Amino acid sequence: MALFTFNDDSYTLGNIREVDTRKVTILVNSDKDLRKARVGQLVTVPLSGATECWLIGMIDKVIKAVVTQPLTLEVPEDGADEIDAFEDSVVNTVKITLMGAARWDAIVQKYKFSRSLDHVPEIDSTCYVLKDAHLEEFMRVISECGDGEHSLELGSYKLNENARAYVDGNKLFQRHAALLGSTGSGKSWTVASILERSSQLPSSNLVVFDLHGEYKELSYAKQLRIPGPDEVDVDDDSLLFLPYWLLNSEEIQSLFVDRSEFSAHNQVVVVQDAITEQKKAFLQANGRTDLLQSFTLDSPIPYSLDKVIGKLKYLNEEKVEGSRGPKNGPFNGEFSRLLVRMASRLNDRRYGFLFNSPEKYNQYDSLSMVAEKLMGFGNQKQSIKVIDFSEVPADILPVIIGLVARIIYQVQFWTNPESRRPVAFVCDEAHLYLPRKEGNPVERRAVEAFEKIAKEGRKYGVALMIVSQRPSDVSTTILSQCNNIISLRLTNADDQATVRKLLPESLESLLEALPIMDVGEAMVVGDSVLLPSRIKIDPPTEKPLSATIDFWSRWQEDVTNADFALAVENMRRQNRTKP
Ligand SMILES: Nc1ncnc2c1ncn2[C@@H]1O[C@H](COP(=O)(O)OP(=O)(O)O)[C@@H](O)[C@H]1O
Ligand SMILES: [Mg+2]
Repeated sequence: MALFTFNDDSYTLGNIREVDTRKVTILVNSDKDLRKARVGQLVTVPLSGATECWLIGMIDKVIKAVVTQPLTLEVPEDGADEIDAFEDSVVNTVKITLMGAARWDAIVQKYKFSRSLDHVPEIDSTCYVLKDAHLEEFMRVISECGDGEHSLELGSYKLNENARAYVDGNKLFQRHAALLGSTGSGKSWTVASILERSSQLPSSNLVVFDLHGEYKELSYAKQLRIPGPDEVDVDDDSLLFLPYWLLNSEEIQSLFVDRSEFSAHNQVVVVQDAITEQKKAFLQANGRTDLLQSFTLDSPIPYSLDKVIGKLKYLNEEKVEGSRGPKNGPFNGEFSRLLVRMASRLNDRRYGFLFNSPEKYNQYDSLSMVAEKLMGFGNQKQSIKVIDFSEVPADILPVIIGLVARIIYQVQFWTNPESRRPVAFVCDEAHLYLPRKEGNPVERRAVEAFEKIAKEGRKYGVALMIVSQRPSDVSTTILSQCNNIISLRLTNADDQATVRKLLPESLESLLEALPIMDVGEAMVVGDSVLLPSRIKIDPPTEKPLSATIDFWSRWQEDVTNADFALAVENMRRQNRTKP
């Protein structure tokens, strides 16, 4: 049974003139035939052989070249060396890249598409454009092949809206994915759509970094929130405190130590010593001196920050016995500014989730409680974990997101391989905390944590899905590890260039469509799809909240004044709840 029958020549494009593995050049006979070709369109070349096999290619280039030639090649006999009769001849060519082949599978009695090419086309064989019923038929084959045990249904194909589009859910997460697109192109909806499908699996495990509270109302997800200034004293299970003792030494330094200060090096050494001392004291008080053997400065052990500050104050004011009576100690005054900086952070309620966590967050067992909150799965409504970071002050956001990612990664690393559960991070608005530029020490923390995951996460079952409207501002190390690209509309030229670098050269013609695609329409490329293609993403049933404020609509409302006295009072109290 033939997959395609081309009864008339309205589908004929031309004949193969040159073959260079996957790159093929077609000689087109007439201008009329050339007009059938469009960049990005699919074409097919039948293979002659025992089994039915159709090679499938995509048009990269359409070229109409005018070649000027002398009418006659003979040199005139009268000795005149000028030829004055020329003729313009037109050479029409189309360049295609072979994407794979559709073969008849006699066992299942169906056509199957695969990316492998075990035969190259013969010179002179005919190439046909795929359109109308043929294209629909082919997309049906693709759709059928994609619908397997581990397929994730994303939407429908732009080329044939009746054909459902699937991606291989294993491959999508195995080698990291990037979901890119300008503001308003449909990233958050696509995320919600993928989350919705994942939530239908009995034990999926995804952690969503939600920067604007867009996903906080998804009913199928477990909702966690980093407490804001209002909530520091609230005891609520959905709050996620991140006590300061979870920070490693570099994270602590980036919060407190000003590198530009003259005594920065002293500060680092003394702070580290004081923290080590306090962590050891905690282990002793809790009868866990056995841990001292494997103890390092970065061991996640609770300690008293007050005592560390006490130590610094003491050194800052210390007097020692000199030859002519008491004199200033070796660190006199060196920590004054550090102490002021620490005090101002500690008293700021916006940092309360770090420094004012409830007692149950400061016990020996607290980290396992946090780990279970972040990584628990299996129970109903636990597989998708949305963490709302909207209350975290922007200046320390990268440290905090890096911290959460690091905790999950490390716990995953130390989990016995047989009980490890693969986990995927969905990093919305990644350009905000995974910047490309070498930023300040605070910004580098998140990038380092995520770069490690991007490079090594696969071994331990940790995957990344990087979501961003500014791919050109996202760390290249991280983006270049993403082997699957879902690109929605992208209008900015720098961002398009970034995506271009992530794609194999043969697919560049696909990029032409990036700036003109509709909202919710994506170009999906990578090993998770059979054929790089344009897919209309299904809208999610439960929509994410919009992070954008509709100024004009809001300004049309008839309203009275806000209570500014209360706002000012809240500002002084650092609390929005009624006193
Ligand atoms: N798959 C889709 N199908 C239909 N409309 C969509 C789709 N995705 C997004 N939209 C529309 O576009 C708007 C913006 O989408 P959103 O996901 O918030 O964009 P982004 O996160 O990229 O800024 C949505 O409010 C919705 O109206
Ligand atoms: Mg969004």
